[in-house]
Amino acid sequence: MDKNQIIIFDTTLRDGEQSPGASMSLEEKVQIAKAFQDLGVDVMEAGFPAASQGDFEAVSEISKILTKTIPCGLARSLKNDLDKCYESLKHSKHFRIHTFIATSDLHMKHKLQKTREEVLDLIKFSVEYAKKFTPDVEWSPEDATRTDSDFLCKTVELAIKSGATTINIPDTVGYATPSDYERIIKDLYNRVPSIDKVVVSTHTHNDLGLAVANALAGVAAGARQVECTINGIGERAGNAALEEVVMAIKTRNDLMPYTTNINTKKISPCSKLLSSTIGFPVQYNKAIVGKNAFAHESGIHQDGMLKNKNTYEIMTPESVGVSKSSLVMGKHSGRHAFKEKLIVLGYPNFDESKIDEAFKKFKDLADKKKHVFDDDIAALVDDELMNDKNVIKLVSLDVFAGTKGQKAVLELDVYGTISKTEQSGDGPVDSIFKGIKELFPHEAHLQLYQVHAVTEGTDAQATVSVRIEEKGKISVGQAADTDTLVASAKAYINALNKLIIKRKRTAPNEEFSTAI
Ligand code: KIV
Ligand code: ZN
Repeated sequence: MDKNQIIIFDTTLRDGEQSPGASMSLEEKVQIAKAFQDLGVDVMEAGFPAASQGDFEAVSEISKILTKTIPCGLARSLKNDLDKCYESLKHSKHFRIHTFIATSDLHMKHKLQKTREEVLDLIKFSVEYAKKFTPDVEWSPEDATRTDSDFLCKTVELAIKSGATTINIPDTVGYATPSDYERIIKDLYNRVPSIDKVVVSTHTHNDLGLAVANALAGVAAGARQVECTINGIGERAGNAALEEVVMAIKTRNDLMPYTTNINTKKISPCSKLLSSTIGFPVQYNKAIVGKNAFAHESGIHQDGMLKNKNTYEIMTPESVGVSKSSLVMGKHSGRHAFKEKLIVLGYPNFDESKIDEAFKKFKDLADKKKHVFDDDIAALVDDELMNDKNVIKLVSLDVFAGTKGQKAVLELDVYGTISKTEQSGDGPVDSIFKGIKELFPHEAHLQLYQVHAVTEGTDAQATVSVRIEEKGKISVGQAADTDTLVASAKAYINALNKLIIKRKRTAPNEEFSTAI
């Protein structure tokens, strides 16, 4: 391998999915895995197979479909975890097992209640056992950055001797600073004799907002794999954001002469896909993928941009797949142009009847809305074409709102039977949601309700995100419409349709703990 090549190890589906509220269904994980493979990630940590049946199934399905990206599963130093990892990954010709154990005195004493000697034994056991299944074994000393440095060197040396080919150095609680993290990795290069035989990897959390800086400091010290997530999602404040690491390397290649296999033009679509799947909006001023990352508001900046884009842009929006909202079509545009547009926007080949359906919706939208932008079409297609397994469908909705009270008159098609209700509540949205609950009784609680304008102007479509929870199962629904209340009803129904699919899956293993 080229000595300046950086392996991008994506852990969105494992560490990222561990963020509260970010859980995904099997179908969603598979869709994301395909998109991330297209993005060019080298290794994908698809889950923690022993943690739950859902994780096991997701890792299995993903290991069946990945052809270029190497699938990976996480395992504690337990035989059962390692067996499950193998069972779920074995469908792939080349897979990686990632096994870990905590090595800081704090974690060993209070969490594991194990001595250093016992932990060393488990390192030897877990790596040698994983090695029976695959030559590609990654080992991590959890809480490495708060581990005694002599002991850290000893554990790393033992893991390499036992067969690990990648050594990952987690800053589990986001405590390190860049100089600290660089020193820890340099120390390993100076003190562990066999370190040159393996790839050293960074794994940094963002509790102090330093995850990306720490990852890059690790690379400067010799690490050649970076573990990261799209949009920086992950435990607590998250993990190093893939898009920031990759674009920092690309933009400041004068200082960081490294390469990655990431097709940066796919960054923005992947960010949007993840955000809409888990219902976590991306912060407006987030580097690279935030809505304002390429917006120039002040007159001086706009003037500079018109004269020469380099005045205020260090990378182009196009380089990360952001197309400036372009006016695409109006009500006179034809079906052929619409079909071409779907291809340009990256949608798969829908069959002709689906295109007819979407084209009709587009015409309806163009009648209501003067300017139809790319984002409007994407919202419409996501809403109308990507959800064809729905058991609940909105038939009609009339809402009465204003100072004299609010009520919703709602018709739903549930499993093919149409029924109607009229409900009043604390506001129009509450009335609609009560009506849906009346026609499709359920126990789910509303956790989040959010409205965003897809584009600008008072005739913009509204995208509504709804997150609901039922017995620990989280489901996120989204819908777009020029009528915010119709979008609200559709988003709630979308979340329920996804919940119905999730209900059919086995509940997570509640006994699971990360204690070893
Ligand atoms: O942050 C961490 O320590 C981890 C390990 C399991 C690699 O995610
Ligand atoms: Zn982590």
